[in-house]
Amino acid sequence: MERASTSLEFMAFCLSSALLLNLVICANFTELFQPYWAPDHIVTEGDLTKLTLDNVSGCGFESKSKFLFGKASLQIKLVEGDSAGTVTTFYMSSEGPIHDELDFEFLGNTSGEPYLVQTNVYTNGTGNREQRHTLWFDPTADFHTYSLFWNRHYIVFLVDNIPIRVFINKEKDGVPYPTSQAMTIRGSVWNADDWATQGGRVKTNWSHAPFVSAFRSFEIDACELLPEADDTVAKCSGLRQFWWDKPSLRKLDRHRNHQLKWVRARHMVYDYCKDTGRFTELPRECIK
Ligand SMILES: *[C@@H]1O[C@H](CO)[C@@H](O)[C@H](O)[C@H]1NC(C)=O
Ligand SMILES: *[C@@H]1O[C@H](CO)[C@@H](O)[C@H](O)[C@H]1NC(C)=O
Ligand SMILES: *[C@@H]1O[C@H](CO)[C@@H](O)[C@H](O)[C@H]1NC(C)=O
Ligand SMILES: *[C@@H]1O[C@H](CO)[C@@H](O)[C@H](O)[C@H]1NC(C)=O
Ligand SMILES: *[C@@H]1O[C@H](CO)[C@@H](O)[C@H](O)[C@H]1NC(C)=O
Repeated sequence: MERASTSLEFMAFCLSSALLLNLVICANFTELFQPYWAPDHIVTEGDLTKLTLDNVSGCGFESKSKFLFGKASLQIKLVEGDSAGTVTTFYMSSEGPIHDELDFEFLGNTSGEPYLVQTNVYTNGTGNREQRHTLWFDPTADFHTYSLFWNRHYIVFLVDNIPIRVFINKEKDGVPYPTSQAMTIRGSVWNADDWATQGGRVKTNWSHAPFVSAFRSFEIDACELLPEADDTVAKCSGLRQFWWDKPSLRKLDRHRNHQLKWVRARHMVYDYCKDTGRFTELPRECIK
């Protein structure tokens, strides 16, 4: 029953999107993604994809196509119990030395201690823009939706459709912004016990392996560059072409701003923009 209702909802999403927009991608995991690391650690069961980290390897998947602007969402149920030292990721990245990248990194913890969600934004090859948040729920108890929205004005990181971070286009102030490199969508689970948990003090306890994160409900509503076609980014960069170019999406609306303020007040535990110990001069995008 649960699967039937899930796929009905998914079909309803696809249908309504197909009427309004032109680019929504409705497909299952195998059609959209391929493993890029340790295929034997990735298992697909119906609409669920499980990623395993053990003492041999972590693993990861990537989209077959690349995307420029739009929205990518998926649901994740993170490693339960003792997840210290592990990192589960959902991110988008282009290639090369001046790549752009948008990261969700879920930093595990010892049993009963809270996960942290670390986000980062790389533009023109440079990152160092970490923020860290706690969550208002236990991300190991059930599936929750994590999304990346990206247009030429701003990037939003969303958790259950609530914005936790916005990165505004400040190209006019000399801050590079991703507008011309298509990105691959990726997910992974790996061992990062040199830094992830409590600053690297708590190591992965391999007697608790395997560590498994489950992914499902992949929804990509973005401008797609097909690998087999000779698609160029020009396909996606025409102005006022797509739903994310609507005038109402030039900035976050009032409701979303309100939600963002709430998250920042209650759940933000680190912001690179406030780290004057780390930066003698704060990055330009941090200055109003
Ligand atoms: C995914 O779709 C492909 C092609 O339509 C199909 O062959 C495959 O069985 C599907 N996989 C799952 C897990 O539903
Ligand atoms: C890896 O884990 C397996 C299963 O728990 C265990 O049998 C094996 O000894 C471990 N290998 C190493 C190198 O720790
Ligand atoms: C992007 O990076 C390249 C290589 O480091 C640099 O030459 C260029 O000036 C950068 N562009 C911007 C807009 O900062
Ligand atoms: C893990 O739990 C500790 C203690 O509650 C907390 O200080 C830390 O921020 C949590 N998260 C990570 C990733 O270390
Ligand atoms: C790892 O987990 C085992 C089994 O729960 C426990 O006995 C052991 O003390 C743990 N090791 C560390 C270093 O915490």
